[in-house]
Amino acid sequence: MLFIESVEKLRTLIREQKNKGASVSFVPTMGNLHEGHLQLIDIARKHGDFVVCSIFINPTQFGEGEDFDNYPRTLKGDQEKLEARQCDLLFYPSVKEMYPTGTDKSKLSIVRVPGVSEGLCGGSRPGHFDGVSTVVSKLFNMVQPDVAVFGEKDFQQLAVIRKLTKELNFPIEIVGAPIARESSGLAMSSRNGYLSTEQKKQASFLYTLLQKMKERIEQGECEFSLLQKEALSELESKEFKTDYFEFRNSEDLSPANEQSKDIVILLAAFLGKTRLIDNIAFTRK
Ligand code: PAF
Repeated sequence: MLFIESVEKLRTLIREQKNKGASVSFVPTMGNLHEGHLQLIDIARKHGDFVVCSIFINPTQFGEGEDFDNYPRTLKGDQEKLEARQCDLLFYPSVKEMYPTGTDKSKLSIVRVPGVSEGLCGGSRPGHFDGVSTVVSKLFNMVQPDVAVFGEKDFQQLAVIRKLTKELNFPIEIVGAPIARESSGLAMSSRNGYLSTEQKKQASFLYTLLQKMKERIEQGECEFSLLQKEALSELESKEFKTDYFEFRNSEDLSPANEQSKDIVILLAAFLGKTRLIDNIAFTRK
């Protein structure tokens, strides 16, 4: 596996691959890789000849008081995992390489994606999606992939990226990958490492709750405000501090109503100091 830190070198290598006729697929990450990320690499392999993964802990998507400084930096282990999964190139730029003019968002050219980036995680993490959209656009321009793969666990992020790809005319196919879960049902996340063994067991309740709500809707319930009230009280009783628990249309994340067919239930909740997100998407008959 090639290990590249500079944008210039990356461009040269990508150009070489494209000149040979290879298609490029891309998995952007912030490292601390788990099985969920590695499944994205496998999917990328199916979609392209040359698989690129990036690891960049992007400062512009973290808010004040969030875990940027403490975010796990596990480059050596990540590199080994990617090599074992036959990734072709790891792009690991420094902050200076990514943002040569600094990371002050009031001075940077920023990509903002209105609509789908508002509310949910965008509501509780102001500026987060501006940081994500900006860094993903920069990475797309650097890597110039034919296909890019993102996990559906970050459902809102995926919607933001699909919209920016379309509206900014990136010639890239965006592929969403199913959520990888532990056997307990807990969605895999780099932040699960912050949880104690006991908390991990507790956290698996999130998926149990999402499944239960999905079944209730499939059985015909559509009083979403009542279902939400019930979910919030269950979460409270299990010691979660809920950020949001919402029923939305999967297509554009607008609030679901009686007519909605393609529905996604999204949640964010704190367990101790750890903020967990999860979702379940389904089509109602
Ligand atoms: O999902 C992530 O890990 C990040 O938000 C991403 C897409 C790599 C952008 O920094």
